Amino acid sequence: MKFNIIELEEVDSTNKYAKDNIEELNNFDVIFTKRQTSGRGRMGRVWEADNKSLAFSIVIKDSKLLNDFESLSIISAAAVFRALSTKCDKVSIKWPNDVYIGSKKVCGILSEGISYDKLVGIIDGIGINVNNSSLPLDTATSLFMETGKEYNIKDILFSVLNNFDDLITKHFNGNNEYLDIINENNYLFGKTAYAEINKQKKLVKIYNVLPNNHLVIEYDGNKKEISTGEISFHLND
Ligand code: BTN
Repeated sequence: MKFNIIELEEVDSTNKYAKDNIEELNNFDVIFTKRQTSGRGRMGRVWEADNKSLAFSIVIKDSKLLNDFESLSIISAAAVFRALSTKCDKVSIKWPNDVYIGSKKVCGILSEGISYDKLVGIIDGIGINVNNSSLPLDTATSLFMETGKEYNIKDILFSVLNNFDDLITKHFNGNNEYLDIINENNYLFGKTAYAEINKQKKLVKIYNVLPNNHLVIEYDGNKKEISTGEISFHLND
């Protein structure tokens, strides 16, 4: 495997560790920890991770990947989808990069860019609830809670990394299998939900993901394509 795994007994956040050490770290170094004491989620949220869950960050420094931020984010979700769907039915991807089982979230991904004068790295942080028997939010679930079985956390790490490698390699050879994976397993497809678009709340119908990674949505009678930064969903409203 082309990944170099750096294992830490305990760390505040694997993303923060990778950011703080970006100069010494190499492309495809992976920061993996058994206990993350102050994990970061999107939009300033916290992400709890103890030894029952998988928390890791992939360091990206390859210039081709740095220029393809949006594909990278969906490819990460597709790799997690592939790893988890061998263990459990009902796994799907909520564009751009959450993974669900049924209607609950099992994996969150936080990709953070690091730039000085220009972008020098992306930290692709992935958190998966694996053997947790309960979780603080009732909108979240774990593999154990869905299947009643416990899993080896490192096996899941290796499976995600192997799938990530496979999908990235195919993508750079012109085969965008990751798009088929998201469109065949798109949690949002066909749903109608409230979403915030450019700070306005709208009721939108959701369709497929396009080759440019944009999502097709319909609101106020028109179909539009939208990029990741432009929309956030309120699925429970
Ligand atoms: C989300 O809010 O959905 C994203 C959660 C991302 C959590 C992972 S756990 C490993 C990595 N290190 C962090 O501090 N956060 C990410």
